[in-house]
Parts: sequence; structure tokens; C-alpha cells
Amino acid sequence: MGRRVKPAPIGVYDSGFGGLTVLRELSRALPRAEFVYLGDAGRAPYGGRDADVILSLAEQCVERLFSEGCRVVVVACHTVSSVALRHLQARYTGPGQERAVLGVTIPAAELAVDHVSTRGGRIAFIATARTVASGTFTTECHKLAPVAVVERAAPLLAPIVEEGWETSDVARLAVRRYLDGLDAQVVVLGCTHFPLLREAFEAATDCPVLDPAPFVAARLVDWLTRHPDFTVAEGEPRFLSTGDPDAFATHGSRFLGAPVTTVQHVAETAGRLEPAARVVPRGQVVRA
Ligand code: DGL
Repeated sequence: MGRRVKPAPIGVYDSGFGGLTVLRELSRALPRAEFVYLGDAGRAPYGGRDADVILSLAEQCVERLFSEGCRVVVVACHTVSSVALRHLQARYTGPGQERAVLGVTIPAAELAVDHVSTRGGRIAFIATARTVASGTFTTECHKLAPVAVVERAAPLLAPIVEEGWETSDVARLAVRRYLDGLDAQVVVLGCTHFPLLREAFEAATDCPVLDPAPFVAARLVDWLTRHPDFTVAEGEPRFLSTGDPDAFATHGSRFLGAPVTTVQHVAETAGRLEPAARVVPRGQVVRA
């Protein structure tokens, strides 16, 4: 029998706003759980960054969530999950650590493989350039079954969503262009911004369009059941952002589907996150 530890909030980490679409599903699955969401909006987008940079940003954000009292951190971002999850797990988790870092790539692969193993056909995975360059989604699918997978980078889509243009002609044209010529029977949304583009995706393809987020939530519930030592605290969600907190509250609600209240700003100094809240001056700054 494992030793029970104090109830802790669940950390959710994303490069910015997108992970709020995952938090929406996590909150549905665990309505009483306290979540601490950290969006690295001030340093996003991650999708075109080098792997080494993503590892370093991810370490800082995960450490920040641990310092907020979280013991389980869900890396909601596909880019971070596909590049840095193994590194984060090796660094922060393991026997005696009482910490866990979970990702979204394996649940996405499980969902997609399950879909084609009953119906047949090829999986199309649409994601950021870095996610696609990692090839991690295909690797995870092939651990499950010898399925056909095509990954396609769609770097314009997350910025279109950030701009609030997800229902515009621009969005529909861009999605259609990215799906053009894809010979696939199911499309997997491999970026946390893309659920906001579901209409544009469904207009551009006759294939089913899968958002892994509800399955990520189901897998978390299952994981918590199998790991009773990780007792979850109850409470309202808390939001932290490295970007402008007001902008995070305003735009975040589009992604969460609910008001994003009281956002705490996490400041960065010389490339590192500050451990506590600090007021970032506006306008010109003269360093003493
Ligand atoms: N949230 C990221 C993902 O799911 C995409 C946005 C970015 O490029 O930072 O891959």
C-alpha cells in the first residue's frame, strides 16, 4: 500500500492559450479538482522553436508548477509533449519523487489507432512544424499497431486562432490548403489551438476530425485511479501567464469556453522565470 501524500492541485502547462482547450475537458472530467494552468504566452509560439529551447522553457514551466504545489503536471501542448516529455519525466519523476509529468501525444496516438483499427484507413495528424519534425506521434502509433500515418505541419493555424479569426474565410482557406491532397480517413487535431478551428476542418474534409482532449482527460482520470497516492485537491482553477495577464483573461475565455478569472503574471528575467509574482513596469525602463 502506497503512502498517501497531501492533496495537491493538478498542473496544466501549455505554450500559451491553446492548452485551455485541454483544461476545459480536464475540468469536465474532474469537476471538483483544483487546476493550476500555466500558459507561457509571453514566450510563445513554441511551434517553430529548436528542441533545445523547448526543453529549457518546459523545464522552467514545469518547475514553476511544482513550486505552486502541483505534483502531477499535464503537458497539454503537443509541441512540448512530442519533443520534451521524456526529458521532463527523466528529470523530475521516478521512484521516490512523488511527482508525475503526463503528456498528450500517447493519448492522441491511442485514440487515432483505435479509430483506424476498427474502420481501417490512414491517419492524418496536423500539428506545428516542431511537432511534425519530431515524428513522435507516428512513433507512438507504431508502438500500438502497424498503421499508416501522415503528419503535416500547419504553422499558420495557431496564429490565426490567436488573432481571433477562427471563423473567418482566412481560417477556412488556410485549413483547406493544409488538408489538400491528404489521402487519409481520419484527421487528428495535433495542436491545442485547433479545436477552435473544428468548423473549418469539418468544412475541408469528409473524414471524422478527432480532438484528443476529451480522451486525454479520460486517460488522466484512469491514471489517477491507478495512482491513489496522488490525491487531488479541490478548488477553483488558478491561471498563470508569462504574457500580459489582462490579454490572457480576455482571450483565454474563447479557449476555455468559460471566464478566465484572475490571472497571475509570471515574469521572466534574463531568460528565467521569476519564482514569485513581480510587477512588470510598462513604458521605458532604466536599469539601476
Ligand atoms: N500549443 C501548441 C501545441 O499544441 C501550439 C502553439 C505554439 O506554437 O506555441 O502544439
